[in-house]
Amino acid sequence: MAVDLLLGLQWGDEGKGKIVDVLTENYDIIARFQGGPNAGHTLEFDGIKHVLHTIPSGIFHKNAVNVVGNGVVIDPVIFKKELDALKKFKLDVKSKLFISRKAHLILPTHRLLDAASEASKGKAKIGSTLKGIGPTYMDKTGRNGMRVGDLELSDWKEKYRSLANKHEAMINFYDVDIQYDLAELEADFFKAVEELKTLTFIDSEEYLYQAQKAGKKILAEGAQGSLLDIDFGTYPFVTSSNTTAAGACTGLGVAPNQIGEVKGIFKAYTTRVGSGPFPTELFDEDGETMGRVGNEFGATTGRPRRCGWLDLVALKYAVRVNGVTELMMMKGDVLSGFEKLKVCTAYNYKGEQIEHFPYNIEAENVTPVYSEMDGWKEDLTKMTSADQLPKALNAYIEFLEKELEVPIKIVSVGPDRTQTILR
Ligand code: IMP
Repeated sequence: MAVDLLLGLQWGDEGKGKIVDVLTENYDIIARFQGGPNAGHTLEFDGIKHVLHTIPSGIFHKNAVNVVGNGVVIDPVIFKKELDALKKFKLDVKSKLFISRKAHLILPTHRLLDAASEASKGKAKIGSTLKGIGPTYMDKTGRNGMRVGDLELSDWKEKYRSLANKHEAMINFYDVDIQYDLAELEADFFKAVEELKTLTFIDSEEYLYQAQKAGKKILAEGAQGSLLDIDFGTYPFVTSSNTTAAGACTGLGVAPNQIGEVKGIFKAYTTRVGSGPFPTELFDEDGETMGRVGNEFGATTGRPRRCGWLDLVALKYAVRVNGVTELMMMKGDVLSGFEKLKVCTAYNYKGEQIEHFPYNIEAENVTPVYSEMDGWKEDLTKMTSADQLPKALNAYIEFLEKELEVPIKIVSVGPDRTQTILR
């Protein structure tokens, strides 16, 4: 039985949480494979709105097992908050949520290092969520990190101390003013670790292998988006993990030949939080309308998201790097009421027109070339089937399918589970 993937194709916030929640009925296991609490997956159902950061979005479904894979970085303090917020739903977390022993731990000093690093960069800052993601992955690849499995060893606090001491020396190395009370942060951390230890730790690659052999259906849930990938994103304005399809193999221990469908999610327009280039960004009333109607504020940091037209050059790149087999278009409803819609189909790159995603997309090198299409006025949010969609929206969808050479199977017309149209 193959493992299907679900990936964001832009700069994150495409609506993966909602779609995993919708798709979970078809899967036995939902597995997160990278990133950490920098993600914010919003789910809406039965009038409830809930944001998850590290816990996979299948947690609300009775029969789904949720796995936090080895590629994820876990902050016990944020994890505890997530667990606390779930308590009111009375879920059997111990039997529904498994954590890889090989997942790395975010220590309080990783968060401080993130803040010190960003402060030292001044105008060149990444716009990090400041959750300690970069420093934790640095310790992972530097072979210094602490893993969930270490918590089962008797000397884990010694390992912790030695790493935290090193981090303190590094924080002092940055010549910036970071105020903190480590004793207080550590008290919270140790308390949260004790709660984490009540959960089920597993060798997740073995668990997933056996589950696959037993015919279980597995969905690997990505966080962030392809343009934030450490290798293929708009480096250095990226996150610190591989958000693209290959990340699911290394982040779960799933072999490449076991990957089945690659489901790619994109918004009908584009958003970005944090710094970094964004060729189709709008600074006018249209961008302001997208932000307001689309409620474009970061689920983790609350920061307003930058908004712009759909960038097909970037989307094609993401479709190819990931090997996307089916697409899902989110937030089509937000574009209702625009007289004309623009789609970027090429870049003017250093004076030459190109259709591929180049090494560098900074504004001084790239200006977007747009195709214009008719908009639609209808409110989509109450529509329930594909035959109700307005003609101009169908034309928009068909144009994208032709350009991307992949079918768009789901059109989302609102945040709720029920506002999902299958094509
Ligand atoms: P970090 O991963 O917190 O270090 O942030 C690096 C960059 O990725 C920043 O521009 C963040 O705004 C962005 N980022 C990280 N996580 C998300 C996400 O879940 N959605 C959108 N952007 C994100």
